[in-house]
Amino acid sequence: MQKKINRLFPKVVGVYVFDNHKKYEEQLVSKCDSIKEKGTGVGGQNWISQSVYNTENTYDVNKDEDFDPITDFIRACAVDYCKELNYSGTLNHTNTFFNIYNKYDYQDWHDHPGTHLSGVYCLSGEKGSADIHFTDFNFDKIRLNIKEYNTDNSSIWREEFVPGKFLIFRSDLHHCVNRHELDSKRYSLATNFLIK
Ligand SMILES: [Fe+2]
Repeated sequence: MQKKINRLFPKVVGVYVFDNHKKYEEQLVSKCDSIKEKGTGVGGQNWISQSVYNTENTYDVNKDEDFDPITDFIRACAVDYCKELNYSGTLNHTNTFFNIYNKYDYQDWHDHPGTHLSGVYCLSGEKGSADIHFTDFNFDKIRLNIKEYNTDNSSIWREEFVPGKFLIFRSDLHHCVNRHELDSKRYSLATNFLIK
């Protein structure tokens, strides 16, 4: 028997880890706090959940050189991801903003229209911080019994929040952040790229 399994039209999430993360975490958390305390406006006015402090269109982390080590890492990951997927063109790193989740904050399912690639960098948060979920919304189309869930048979996929972890994916892949249940804050960066 000859056999070939074709994985057609997959959702491809690149999962990367920044080895030097620990060196920068504390300093960048303080930087995020001070930007917020200075009264920098809250972005994401059209987001479903309005409680998460975020700097979408109010503070672009790409322009802050204190974040350069993370920004450089994110760019290197994006280059690698494009190489993996045989995308051609030049990457334009559109913007990066930060999010601060307090207890019970969450973010509903959404995508990032207008960009090609999006990413989430886990900046800081204790173990058990709110995870990131991805979906294709096919979970209730047909019901199959699954012995063990994996990337081929799942319609929802969960990625644990681990400081230093970076996730990159096509901007039309729907994702959300489940409710943050810890008293301690959760800091993340959200980033977007265009490929021209
Ligand atoms: Fe997002």
